[in-house]
Amino acid sequence: MDAPPAAYAIDRACGEHDQPDIPHMSLESFLIALANPWPGQAFERYFGYLDGEPVGHLELGLPLMDNLDNVYVGLNVLPSARRHGVGRALLDLAVERARTLGRRHLQGSTVLRHPDGPAFARVVGAAPGLEETRSRLDVRTVDQARLDAMLADAWQHAGGYRLILWTGVPADEIIDDVAYLDSRFNADAPIGDLALEPEKVDAEKIREAEQRRVQTGRTTYHAGMLHGDRLVAWTTLVGLQAEPAHAWQSITLVDRAHRGHRLGILIKLANLAQIRQLQPGVEVIDTYNAGANEHMLRINVAMGFREVDASIEWQLTL
Ligand SMILES: CC(C)(COP(=O)(O)OP(=O)(O)OC[C@H]1O[C@@H](n2cnc3c(N)ncnc32)[C@H](O)[C@@H]1OP(=O)(O)O)[C@@H](O)C(=O)NCCC(=O)NCCS
Repeated sequence: MDAPPAAYAIDRACGEHDQPDIPHMSLESFLIALANPWPGQAFERYFGYLDGEPVGHLELGLPLMDNLDNVYVGLNVLPSARRHGVGRALLDLAVERARTLGRRHLQGSTVLRHPDGPAFARVVGAAPGLEETRSRLDVRTVDQARLDAMLADAWQHAGGYRLILWTGVPADEIIDDVAYLDSRFNADAPIGDLALEPEKVDAEKIREAEQRRVQTGRTTYHAGMLHGDRLVAWTTLVGLQAEPAHAWQSITLVDRAHRGHRLGILIKLANLAQIRQLQPGVEVIDTYNAGANEHMLRINVAMGFREVDASIEWQLTL
């Protein structure tokens, strides 16, 4: 058996079954992603078998620079092979590996749209750590006049700040600020009951992460706000080149000292305009937000994002 294509086939079948409205990466991008691991993490991968065939795929992500007690669990079992004990066997293996490696918290997410994941997580004794909603903006039907009015109004509150747009790796002048803002995410965004500590992020990690996205067929669009020459707010959209109709709204973060100036809404609206210009085929943008993240949700709703699904980030503590 050729392991990577078999793992890809399982992940893809599960993605299409449990989240049919999200495009899946190509096999080619999956193979490149395997060969270029996410910076600062080690990975282990295992198959679960039924009647001699690989039907389950377990991926363990092991952060190496921070969060050393954690194991990030990706677990997929082919829809046709579920309820035969494969998921439980693979989770037992994940627990055994966590114990061997001296890590205490296993974390993994399930979508609510399909009942299998949450039912399984409850039965194996995991606790719900963070509830998130997935919201979608239909770019084809946005109320542009309304967005223009929001933008003009927001600028009234943002005197002294300058907008900056870029794609891919940030310029040397701002890359340390990007790293700082990125490292604040676990500290500043709601993380519920999950055992997560701020990540250690430096310019090199930002550079590697951006290069990896390019290698795996993605384009990143960024908008930020400068105060003097310091970047104090930052947001990212990620497009998949093979599926130009879809993009992900990723991180949005405003430095604590600069909140209350509408910088969040300004950078999101500016970045929406940027992706519409540079990826004109974009039709929908998806984003995950913690249900408790009132400010971010209010901005998203004002822009026209509407809830389409929800997910739970589970934690099993040994
Ligand atoms: C979650 C998942 C991995 C479970 O795989 P599986 O091979 O079906 O799991 P098991 O057969 O070992 O099921 C173990 C128990 O979970 C519970 N369970 C699983 N699916 C269930 C469902 N739809 N309804 C009720 N209970 C369910 C049952 O108690 C089951 O035991 P039983 O079949 O003896 O009653 C699989 O459904 C999946 O790939 N889902 C999509 C991805 C995902 O959510 N992964 C988990 C997050 S890391």
